[in-house]
Amino acid sequence: RLPFILHSPPSALTWTEALDEHKISLRRRCEFVQEGSAAAGTGTPLNRIYTELYITQGTREGVNTQHEVWQLETTSKMETLSDTSIKCQDIFKPLPGQDTHIRVVVTQGVAGIGKTFSVQKFTLDWAEGLENQHVSLVVLLSFRELNLIKDERYSLLQLLRQLAICKVVFIFDGLDESRFLLDFQNSEVGNLLPSALLWITSRPAAANQIPPTCVDRVTEVRGFTDLQKEEYFRRRSSDEELCSSIISHIKASRSLHIMCQIPVFCWITATVLEHMLTTDQRGDLPKSLTDMYSHFLLVQTQRKKHKYDERHDRSQQELMETDREVLLKLGRLAFEHLEKGNLMFYQEDLEECGLDVREASVYSGVCTEIFKTECVLFQRKVYCFVHLSIQEFLAAVYIFHCFTNRNTEVLARVMRTHKNKGVDKKPSLDIFLKTVLYEALESKNGHLDLFVRFLHGLSLESNQKLLGGLLGPTESRPEDIQRVIYNLKIRRATLTSPDRSINIFHCLMEMNNLSVHQDIQEFLKSEKRSKKKLSEIHCSALAYMLQMSEEVLDELDLKAYNSSFEGRARLIPAVRNCRKARLVLMSNQHYANSVELLPYLTPSEIQ
Ligand SMILES: *[C@@H]1O[C@H](CO)[C@@H](O)[C@H](O)[C@H]1NC(C)=O
Ligand SMILES: *[C@@H]1O[C@H](CO)[C@@H](O)[C@H](O)[C@H]1NC(C)=O
Repeated sequence: RLPFILHSPPSALTWTEALDEHKISLRRRCEFVQEGSAAAGTGTPLNRIYTELYITQGTREGVNTQHEVWQLETTSKMETLSDTSIKCQDIFKPLPGQDTHIRVVVTQGVAGIGKTFSVQKFTLDWAEGLENQHVSLVVLLSFRELNLIKDERYSLLQLLRQLAICKVVFIFDGLDESRFLLDFQNSEVGNLLPSALLWITSRPAAANQIPPTCVDRVTEVRGFTDLQKEEYFRRRSSDEELCSSIISHIKASRSLHIMCQIPVFCWITATVLEHMLTTDQRGDLPKSLTDMYSHFLLVQTQRKKHKYDERHDRSQQELMETDREVLLKLGRLAFEHLEKGNLMFYQEDLEECGLDVREASVYSGVCTEIFKTECVLFQRKVYCFVHLSIQEFLAAVYIFHCFTNRNTEVLARVMRTHKNKGVDKKPSLDIFLKTVLYEALESKNGHLDLFVRFLHGLSLESNQKLLGGLLGPTESRPEDIQRVIYNLKIRRATLTSPDRSINIFHCLMEMNNLSVHQDIQEFLKSEKRSKKKLSEIHCSALAYMLQMSEEVLDELDLKAYNSSFEGRARLIPAVRNCRKARLVLMSNQHYANSVELLPYLTPSEIQ
């Protein structure tokens, strides 16, 4: 799969012959895609499932430092603002009325949103002679693969000499996955191919490595719009009724609907709902995220059992134990790397968690749907979860398992503050969740937000039942659950980021306690809003609902809300959906200064 150009073409080939070879190899590489499942040769034709993605010129500013789930929530809001959408084949074309020459494009987008799909579509259309035929050569390089070139010396220079005369597009896919150092300061700058076009894709946080002065256009893949979501489900299945049920279920749940901007999440949702709707489980369709992911794991295990039983006759019990063991090892891998912010793993990483590579990727069918093996260069393989949220979910499963099994060593690691305070070694459920939530709130970029949401969801008996023995002997008593809910409601957060505080509200939703949500719905309908006293958790819920509302608020004036200082500070995220904001926070100045405003200073006029 390495583009022929990295080796020099055999001298017997003419340029045209070499180019034809290259086009054939690109078509082979881009024709099929894998949606989750990684088994080689089982992909789906790209042209069949490719649903146009929403790509825009420019990006939202100031949200780069936030957890990607938050970025989604923000974008879903901003669709209404005036964005210009760009088709992937026009990525280098100036917009109507613009006469700039666009040579270097950076495309950002959160994990799983479809950057690689866009790159593949662009390349395939070129190789098939359909689009961008003024380009003589497209060179597609993925950082995931380039990382593996360690010991071999390949020279782009050698290739460049041959290419100086023709029009080339270089595509570098997945800058965020690069383990090379980019150095714009100290490297010698050459001007090798002044007319070559360059397209770089990256998750938002890593895109900052490229100085803006080197870039002509920044675009963003925003995944599916509401219409595209529906189109995706309709393309998957010809069963009209099934599709309509799936679509109406998703529309009814705000959090599922938002997550469906990510194509991978649509795939997870479709997998679960198709399974449940066709096996008579209509009654309990999942509404919370934990619920959805638990069902997803369950569907995968059941499918695998089915496949496996046809060939061997092992007892069910034994199968469950194997699943359990492998899943927990994957959970450990997930957690340890979530802490470090790693999404890609090598064989050594797997082995460190006791995962036999053969066991993880081949033996256990369940893993091929949640864990991808990317067959790459020089017999070295790279692994990853099909989506970051799956990693976050399995990490939560593993940590909950450690909690129920009193694995004090691991617990001490997740509960650092707890350890410092020297509380006993067997924390109760509420102390456990309270401490982990504290850790998550301290995070600057919210990298534990989804993880901690899942942990709360897993404390519910309904989700524990779904996962069977995976979590170990659970004993969530109703009084424990009530205490957890109570703690969430009175929780005081550090003020650094009001977004982190909204996560407390999300945890409450994962616990299926809708009372705060209902209070705020009533509040929004009521006439005498300013008289009603709002608690801090109410304010987070309100901030979330205002931010997500279809209606753009004319003015957000914090003083107009009857709440404490912290409560008002927690309302700040709502500025993302208002035309004008007055953020007057009356309190101790030092306290007020600690509120990090930068992520919110987007289009609104702020006083
Ligand atoms: C939500 O939590 C409150 C305690 O804060 C409790 O009184 C109420 O019953 C809970 N509601 C549900 C549906 O569990
Ligand atoms: C805030 O709410 C409390 C409790 O409902 C009420 O007594 C008070 O008058 C309210 N304050 C304002 C300024 O409306």
